Amino acid sequence: MTAPVLASTRSELAALLSDARRAGQRIGLVPTMGALHEGHASLMRMAREQVGADGKVVVSIFVNPLQFGAGEDLDRYPRTLEADLAITAQEDVDIVFAPSVEEVYPGWAQGSGQPQVTLDPGPLGAILEGSTRPGHFAGMLIVVAKLFGLVGPDVAVFGEKDYQQLALIRRMVEDLCLGIDVVGAPTRRERDGLALSSRNRYLGPEERLEAVHLSRALFAAQDAAAYGAGAALDAAHAEVRRATSVDIDYLVVTAVDLGELPEAPPAGTEARILVAARVGSTRLIDNMSLTIGSTTGSGSDS
Ligand code: PAF
Repeated sequence: MTAPVLASTRSELAALLSDARRAGQRIGLVPTMGALHEGHASLMRMAREQVGADGKVVVSIFVNPLQFGAGEDLDRYPRTLEADLAITAQEDVDIVFAPSVEEVYPGWAQGSGQPQVTLDPGPLGAILEGSTRPGHFAGMLIVVAKLFGLVGPDVAVFGEKDYQQLALIRRMVEDLCLGIDVVGAPTRRERDGLALSSRNRYLGPEERLEAVHLSRALFAAQDAAAYGAGAALDAAHAEVRRATSVDIDYLVVTAVDLGELPEAPPAGTEARILVAARVGSTRLIDNMSLTIGSTTGSGSDS
């Protein structure tokens, strides 16, 4: 396996992709903010599966300032390009696109880089993460739309860990007829269940122990979902109460499209449980599938 080629500018990226386009090769994009881990590696493998051995897998690494609000962790977000490149080198990636802020938002340094045409995430972007992180989804959609424009992928792979983000990207692609297949990849977890996240590296040893209550809460909800959505939520809350320093932002059961579940969903209804919480100064999110009122077991989140 050869190491991927690193492109830092739009023109380098365009030059690298033009032959692939001419040859009709499929292009798969994995957008990331770097600080890569096994979860990202699994997205790269999925992109390769999607485009085949002849296709091109592009990984973008860009910490997008537009999706961080005031007081969030933009400045301390881990930037680990060397280590990231080593991971992409093990995963059959063809191109790593790691642009500067100026390259993505020309004029940023002079204060004129903010796009004037923006994207409104709509009602789906106003709930859950959208209600605590105003502007986050609008900024995320802008950069994803830009990356789609710069890379021109046939397929783009995103993690289900950011479930609302994935739903919004699917909605954007559908509403704006972008013609890109958006593929969601299952959340990867530590052995004790904690969802892999670039932000886990902020956790001190005590906080790391506390953080595991979040995934335990979701697993408890999966076990209790046979008895209904209320029972699932109660089980999750009971688990979270065992934590001493987990500050819940939201813990909710929704329909799979993040809408409200009907009052008495028929047995076998698929649903989602989502949590966001602060553990110390670190904000973590997680989610899992639920099968309500069915004794055949819940979804297959691993
Ligand atoms: O999920 C992320 O890492 C980011 O939100 C994304 C999709 C790369 C956009 O900056």
